Amino acid sequence: MGSSFAFIDFQNRSADDLKLFLLRARELKKQFKPQSPFTIQGTCFLMFFEPSTRTKFSFETAALRAGYQPLSFTPGMTSVEKGETLLDSLLNLEAYNPHFFVIRCGNEYDLQQVQNQIETPILNAGWGIYGHPTQALLDVMTIEDTLGGLRGKKILFVGDFAFSRVFASHIDLARILGYEIALCGPPAFMNENTRVSAASQGIKKFTSLEEGTEWADAICFLRVQLERHAEKKAFRDLTQEQYHQQFGASEKWLAKLAPEKRIMHPGPVNEGIEICRAAMSDPRSLILEQTRNGVFIREALIRACLGGGSK
Ligand code: CP
Repeated sequence: MGSSFAFIDFQNRSADDLKLFLLRARELKKQFKPQSPFTIQGTCFLMFFEPSTRTKFSFETAALRAGYQPLSFTPGMTSVEKGETLLDSLLNLEAYNPHFFVIRCGNEYDLQQVQNQIETPILNAGWGIYGHPTQALLDVMTIEDTLGGLRGKKILFVGDFAFSRVFASHIDLARILGYEIALCGPPAFMNENTRVSAASQGIKKFTSLEEGTEWADAICFLRVQLERHAEKKAFRDLTQEQYHQQFGASEKWLAKLAPEKRIMHPGPVNEGIEICRAAMSDPRSLILEQTRNGVFIREALIRACLGGGSK
């Protein structure tokens, strides 16, 4: 059981494999024609146990472009509501011969464990605090294409590390591909995510956004995950306005930003908390380019995962 075509994290992925994969995404972007017809050769299930706009619809688009009809599994309208487990849902859906599963879920599920019990590959679309590997890849594609190369480039992550699966994936990817990462944010956002805090030992930390900005080539603001912080603990020490002024892409911060620096955010944003509207639409902002690249990364992933292993 298990599938060598699963994509749950960056374990056992070499730099060469990942570079080839980025190259493929770039080729797909270059060759893309909006009017191209789809030739459907199979199906896949998109199972989102948490809300999503970018990841869900880019995977859906990517699946169609790669030739797989996406079938949406909406947990509230399935037998999950009657207590069926993720494993049983997957085993039953496997009976319909899908080519892959795309899954977003929280920490309550163990994607690796369920993958070991089924044959169809699982592609991780954001798993609890453990990782969001396709987000890290699309970030890297965006930086590389915009800043001309990746090796030695410096990305400062700012904000909420308590639950950040995006940062968790960058810890792994930065080691493999050779870019530098640092973090900056208030202490209340640094201490909960053991995956991040253990792994980030040795990673540069800035307490001042100004100093971090000076160090970085790109500054990636992380969403404050208000829905995951119990009792609005997120703003225990700082008000939202104080947070915005100290750790946000505020208008004041934007006015001092050097022309060669780039602004990033995985989305969705909390406007006025981690970023202001002017920073989102600033010419130095890569936010929509990140979104745009998401579909090519995911199409490359689908094609790579099914290459040689499709049913
Ligand atoms: N960046 C990201 O994962 O966005 P969604 O939650 O909209 O998919």
